[in-house]
Amino acid sequence: MCGIVGAVGHKQCSSVLLDALKRLEYRGYDSSGIVTIHDGKITLKRAVGKLVNLDAVLSKGPLKGDIGIGHTRWATHGGVSTANAHPHVASDRVSIVHNGIIENHLAIRQRLEGAGRQFSSDTDSEVLAHLFVEALDSGMEPAAATQQVLAEIEGAYAFAVLTIDYPDILIVARNASPLALGIGDDACYIGSDAIALSHLTRKIVYLKDHDFALVRADGVAVYQEGGVPVNREAVFVAASPGLINKGGYRHFMEKEIHEQPDAIAHSLAAMTNEYGQLTAHMSDSALHAINGIVMLAAGTSHYATQIARYWIESLAGVPVACEVASEYHYRQPATSPYNTAIAVSQSGESLDTLMAMRHAATCNLSTIGLVNVPSSTIAREAGAVLHTRAGPEIGVASTKSFTAQLTVLLCFAVEIARAKRQIDDARAAKIHQKIQALPGLVGKALALFDNIRPIAHRLSHAKSALYLGRGTLYPLALEGALKLKELSYIHAEGFASGEMKHGPIALIEDGLPVVALLSADGLMAKASNNLREASARGGNIILIADADTLAEVDYASAVIEVPPVDPLLAPILLSVPAQILAYLTAVEKGTDVDQPRNLAKSVTVE
Ligand code: AGP
Repeated sequence: MCGIVGAVGHKQCSSVLLDALKRLEYRGYDSSGIVTIHDGKITLKRAVGKLVNLDAVLSKGPLKGDIGIGHTRWATHGGVSTANAHPHVASDRVSIVHNGIIENHLAIRQRLEGAGRQFSSDTDSEVLAHLFVEALDSGMEPAAATQQVLAEIEGAYAFAVLTIDYPDILIVARNASPLALGIGDDACYIGSDAIALSHLTRKIVYLKDHDFALVRADGVAVYQEGGVPVNREAVFVAASPGLINKGGYRHFMEKEIHEQPDAIAHSLAAMTNEYGQLTAHMSDSALHAINGIVMLAAGTSHYATQIARYWIESLAGVPVACEVASEYHYRQPATSPYNTAIAVSQSGESLDTLMAMRHAATCNLSTIGLVNVPSSTIAREAGAVLHTRAGPEIGVASTKSFTAQLTVLLCFAVEIARAKRQIDDARAAKIHQKIQALPGLVGKALALFDNIRPIAHRLSHAKSALYLGRGTLYPLALEGALKLKELSYIHAEGFASGEMKHGPIALIEDGLPVVALLSADGLMAKASNNLREASARGGNIILIADADTLAEVDYASAVIEVPPVDPLLAPILLSVPAQILAYLTAVEKGTDVDQPRNLAKSVTVE
């Protein structure tokens, strides 16, 4: 999703900003641009498409100046074009970059156009540039001008402004969209996240909602709502080595699939104390007090919560509701049966999930965040935080963060069950022992690439595919279908195997690929019957299963076999071949694996 960067006091400002934008590439975008002030004038370069295009434009006409802002745009209002790319400039005097949506932009635009101001884009964001010109025209200084603009706009935003009137100041503000300020030795920086600035500084100031700040080369002055100066402590964020390095793999996604044994092992270590005992980093009394959980998430993270529901309910006997975050917030949910909300998010910045968590807090639920980015907004705002330690995930498609989330959620389920005495210490330790074997099992599943390649080759010619599973493998079927469609653009749907006969079986025709997930749980015989029914109608069954399930299988046209696994852990292990299948199918089709069309890694708009 849109990325914002900025620098003040840095001599090679434009090249520093381009490097920072490259670090935000993983978020997804369709155009980009950089603006600087040089010799008292605003100088601007923009390009549609990937950053290499902006790089080429800058090589032909480098930008000079020691103050600048840059942007990668993910189109919301207005198509993908150079005119709609940020930064936007008004009256050759003010330039802005913006992430989020100004919801009342139409009314503001009409007012400004009525007053004779000329717009040059179709975006909602451009109103910000004109509003600042208007405020400066009336003689306001930066802080007062910002307060006036903030009083007029509605919606989610993080924005940065530069103006030739104050050529040594960047004005920034945030509400609901992330923004980090970086404090360097002789310069200061801004970025949508600390990752963007990790080559420049690790000393970061995070703004809170409704804050704005004036950023100068020698420091930042932060103001809270109403323009009252406020001290926001700087924090030191961990370095992110190897961030823009594919480590010899063809794609980040391929690298991240291979990183799963480590991602799981590190995440498991984060749930284990110095004596090797499982801990949720919450007291037994806090765990015992949990009487019902609403889980809030989007996309792949939502499917992780759906799998976790089976574990938490069956092990701990605690009721769980899994909510699509974007629906929960506006549904006015009756929350009385639950006292706890868990927001699950790789980025920790998905606006839908953040808003849902905030809504849960206003309904008096205790909030727990499960995030992969420790410095993210959800981590900072949640009442308690669980961490996955998957490391930076750059590929837009979630892979290692998903299996790491599942690992942590399974540990969490075991810990609630133990704290509530639903299982005894011995059983908890036994499950924990099985979980410890996961990195090794996942490592073995990585050897499946070559087996899956010919299956992916055939799948790449399909127009449509179904994914089927029962029990914990049902949400995994949904996730497998999401992986295939987002990466290869093949239409794919996931269903509960037992639900097929209630309608979706009508979709089956000769040769339709049906990816089936099977493990040796109590539902294996029933699931196999469902798959036989699909096969009998011409479905081409691609079975992903562990060795213990295969003896009775007589209906599959292709089998992807993983090592024998306890059914409790099966959704984690079977994720790996499902990811590899989607990845290799996309490679066969030649799609943009790491940045599929129209998608963003971190979705910071509603
Ligand atoms: C899936 O591959 C996508 N990356 C997407 O569905 C993602 O899981 C979703 O946008 C939620 O992101 P989050 O975990 O960062 O909140």
